Amino acid sequence: MKKIAFITGVTGQDGSYLAELLLSKKYIVHGLLRRTSFLNLDRIQEIIDRYESKGLLKLHYIDLTDTSSITNLIIKYKPHEFYNLASMSHVGISYFTGEATLNINAIATYRILESILKNHKKCKFYQASSSEMFGSTPPPQNEKSPFNPQSPYGISKVAAYYTTRYFRQAHGLFASNGILFNHESPRRGLNFVTRKITHSLARILSGYEKKIYLGDISTRRDWGHSKDYVRGIWMILQHKRPEDFVLSTGKNYSIEDFVKKTFKILGLNWKKFVSTNNKNFLRPSEVRNLQGNSNKARKLLKWKPIYNLDTLCLDMLKSDLKLYGMTLEQAKEKAKKISK
Ligand SMILES: NC(=O)c1ccc[n+]([C@@H]2O[C@H](COP(=O)([O-])OP(=O)(O)OC[C@H]3O[C@@H](n4cnc5c(N)ncnc54)[C@H](OP(=O)(O)O)[C@@H]3O)[C@@H](O)[C@H]2O)c1
Repeated sequence: MKKIAFITGVTGQDGSYLAELLLSKKYIVHGLLRRTSFLNLDRIQEIIDRYESKGLLKLHYIDLTDTSSITNLIIKYKPHEFYNLASMSHVGISYFTGEATLNINAIATYRILESILKNHKKCKFYQASSSEMFGSTPPPQNEKSPFNPQSPYGISKVAAYYTTRYFRQAHGLFASNGILFNHESPRRGLNFVTRKITHSLARILSGYEKKIYLGDISTRRDWGHSKDYVRGIWMILQHKRPEDFVLSTGKNYSIEDFVKKTFKILGLNWKKFVSTNNKNFLRPSEVRNLQGNSNKARKLLKWKPIYNLDTLCLDMLKSDLKLYGMTLEQAKEKAKKISK
């Protein structure tokens, strides 16, 4: 019998890669997405075309704030695995939308787990926890490090993390947290700093923009590739016991390093094209330094990332250049012209 997986946030970066991975492993995937005024199926259009008509991918409209529709689906399809990836995932925006962030990220997790407990206790549950939970705790951070969240996003993820542990410890559910450090890809949202850098650089080369405006570029993050991390997410639910795992590369770099590496691919001097410390992008409380220790996942799950920061920057830049009709070689030629 084929395994059935539910994915909330299937239209997002991780949800789309995870859906592809599970379909390649012969799962039947149920993607849970919210209604938006403008269809945003770009990241999953390819798998819709390939798998929906065969009944291997089914999409359902739900909103994470609507318990009854999620419960109805759990009762109807009895999934083997439930991946809760949907969230208000932007730390910067969470400062302005704190209540909604807590509602979507924290309370919805409680509702889903309560529904699994009441209706389908055998279902394994994955919670998308985040390194932002560590906040101001000095690096390196691992599963035992204390949480010191610095944003409504971080607070909401801590609440969801403990909710997941509570349903595991008090009610015996197979419920695990993946504490994932930052991971990016060509599918990262345009308002996240890494994607903003690669996308704006492609626009500069195409003549649509002159400069990239950033905030504090000294903050450090442990950046991996989403493709590596969704493999780890799947491995967490295949582990014999429900447990919590950090997924990280173990290396950290500043935003400035990310900028330098990306511009270096094209041989451009970044200082000519990047404006920093712009007030609009400074946060009321900044998480300065995240660097994960993922030894537990590497040992117990045999997980390790394939991408490093250089290959990540290259993958993202190439993809954004392609959006503007350019190959890497053509971009290098244009770069020579604009740097004169
Ligand atoms: N990427 C990272 O570095 C990272 C690190 C640690 C943890 N995480 C967590 O991992 C998960 C996946 O991250 P990601 O990078 O894939 O984020 P993403 O690209 O922003 O995707 C978030 C998904 O959640 C959906 N969503 C938001 N609000 C919803 C609601 N009220 N009802 C239903 N769906 C809703 C979004 O739908 P729309 O497409 O309609 O907006 C989207 O599909 C998130 O929970 C994130 O917080 C991410």
